[in-house]
Amino acid sequence: MQRSPDATVEPDEILAGIKKTVDERLVQVVTGVDPPRLYDAARYVLAGGGKRLRPVLVVLSADVFGADIDRALPAALAVETFHNFTLVHDDIMDDADERRGRPAVHRKWDVNTAILVGDYLLSLSYETLAQSQEDRLQELLKTFHRMVARLCEGQMLDAEFESRDSVDIDGYFEMIDRKTGALLSACMEMGGIVGGASAEMLGVLAEAGRFLGRAFQVRDDLLDVTAEDERWGKTVGGDLVQGKRTYLLLKALEVLDGDERRWFQRNVLGGGLPVDMIGEARRRMREAGITNEAAKLVGELTERARASLERLPQSAGLDVLDALFARMASRLH
Ligand code: IPE
Ligand code: IPE
Ligand code: MG
Ligand code: MG
Ligand code: MG
Repeated sequence: MQRSPDATVEPDEILAGIKKTVDERLVQVVTGVDPPRLYDAARYVLAGGGKRLRPVLVVLSADVFGADIDRALPAALAVETFHNFTLVHDDIMDDADERRGRPAVHRKWDVNTAILVGDYLLSLSYETLAQSQEDRLQELLKTFHRMVARLCEGQMLDAEFESRDSVDIDGYFEMIDRKTGALLSACMEMGGIVGGASAEMLGVLAEAGRFLGRAFQVRDDLLDVTAEDERWGKTVGGDLVQGKRTYLLLKALEVLDGDERRWFQRNVLGGGLPVDMIGEARRRMREAGITNEAAKLVGELTERARASLERLPQSAGLDVLDALFARMASRLH
């Protein structure tokens, strides 16, 4: 993408262009070969596709403040490398079999390999970020560090919630603001820093990222129950089997009563849903209107995130960012 993307170019084309650049450059960040098990697995992860949402947020946020893709690229590659690290460790923690339509690293190789590939990708993300030629590199690093701590806090809460009885929807939002929102906020802030945004504008970017993160994670929870698109690439119902306190489960426990409520309490809380009951849980969630509730909330959170964007400077990059946000409510994978 050039500076000030041509307003006549469709957002889709601009997004596809950024994604292509990220895809091409990302595999090149791994240069090691020995031992092959480590580096093959690292390449397997980075070349495995994915939407590349986080680097796109960095590049577009930088563009809003006048920085071109070349300047934003080190930070963009760093956040995607970091995100991939979190996925590898998340799949161990969530005992997940599949990621991006392929076996998770700890299944294709083993847990030790997945731990080490994750560690290596984390280190690589720092190395990549440090290549930013920015006079505000310290600020970039500070934003990144703060985000890493927040994300670990969120992942810890997510794991603890599995065996906690007293989780409510406020606690859920606190958890997802950290495990998912922190990274999306940091991506937008880091783009802003590269572009030279003021402290006030960085605050707006962070807020937009936080609401986008909420919309994104509630949608992710919803797709765990409803996904049909094969690009989803993860086991449907995995959260229920794991006993995750997702938005849908908490909403079901809040609004249902009597036998309907007891069904979820008995079968999902305390150990997770047996795999052969996933179909029934999906049906019950649909029939009780829980999936509709979740979809409605995703729409509201998306609009809230877009409202934050309105406070940013008008630019062609902002229009693309807004188009990207608008799609959050209907993403299929
Ligand atoms: C998955 O992120 C982790 C969540 C925060 C739900 P994505 O859905 O962005 O995963 P990829 O990178 O597109 O595979
Ligand atoms: C994702 O939460 C958060 C991070 C990876 C940090 P999930 O556990 O819901 O993500 P998926 O569904 O496995 O992608
Ligand atoms: Mg997971
Ligand atoms: Mg998880
Ligand atoms: Mg999920």
